[in-house]
Amino acid sequence: MSLKGKVALVTGGSRGIGRAITLKLASEGADVIINYFRKTSSAEATAQEAQAKGVRAHIIKANLAEAEKIDSMFDEIAAKFGRLDILVSNAASGVARAGLELDTRGWQWTMDINARAFLLCAQRAARLMPSGGKMVAISSLGSRLVWPIYTAVGVSKAALEMLVRYLAIELAPKGIAVNGVAPGAVETEALKLYSQAAPGQAVKSTPVGRMVQPEDVANVVTFLCTDAADMVRGQIIVIDGGMSLTTSGPLVVEGGSHG
Ligand SMILES: NC(=O)c1ccc[n+]([C@@H]2O[C@H](COP(=O)([O-])OP(=O)(O)OC[C@H]3O[C@@H](n4cnc5c(N)ncnc54)[C@H](OP(=O)(O)O)[C@@H]3O)[C@@H](O)[C@H]2O)c1
Repeated sequence: MSLKGKVALVTGGSRGIGRAITLKLASEGADVIINYFRKTSSAEATAQEAQAKGVRAHIIKANLAEAEKIDSMFDEIAAKFGRLDILVSNAASGVARAGLELDTRGWQWTMDINARAFLLCAQRAARLMPSGGKMVAISSLGSRLVWPIYTAVGVSKAALEMLVRYLAIELAPKGIAVNGVAPGAVETEALKLYSQAAPGQAVKSTPVGRMVQPEDVANVVTFLCTDAADMVRGQIIVIDGGMSLTTSGPLVVEGGSHG
């Protein structure tokens, strides 16, 4: 699965699932650009880990809720690297409220980071991508399942998935592949924040008998970034150890602010 010589941007690539994706792409030889928002120390630590694998790693602080910040991030990428082969749209945030409790600010924030940012990043990335480029968006099972207080994030992920399909068709003639992945509950810091369910509950409702790890997601994303996956277009690959297929259903999200 060599990605030697490729340049990859992972939004929210500093922590959690994004960090695992950054490190997996670096292990396969790609130079990595790590976007983050608040925690510079995490971004620096992940960049150091990537560099230890023998690739270039560059960090860019940018709040993807702001269109101008996305523009300046891509200006920086163009100036420093001159190209982009891989875009992984992973950063996400969201307001955790039931639909009837949602206000316009929370709705807008969630939509801007989780859905609009992918559109804006894809528009700029496409200009830097040669034929053979790959885009992968990180969605969630909450795009199709209804969980308490996941309304805004779930709807934003549904929009993201539809965007994957439209962009896959629009960018196919340019030789750029666009796909997504939808993980179930993944063991990250974010999960602890928004789920009050005991870890054992998630394991119990996963037929494979363990929770999805960030590395499980990173492996599939990295495969989608290789030429071996070139005929996979506009698909959303579920990564949940079979959880969503069982009648006991997936982990119920009960509290918190992210997903
Ligand atoms: N964890 C799960 O169970 C789960 C399940 C399904 C899908 N997902 C999806 O997987 C992806 C990663 O989730 P995670 O659990 O790894 O999240 P996480 O641990 O909270 O990490 C979020 C990352 O996104 C960055 N970020 C947050 N807001 C941003 C903004 N406005 N602009 C730029 N960067 C921003 C963070 O940077 P800073 O640290 O600097 O703020 C961090 O690098 C998300 O798309 C999420 O919806 C997660």
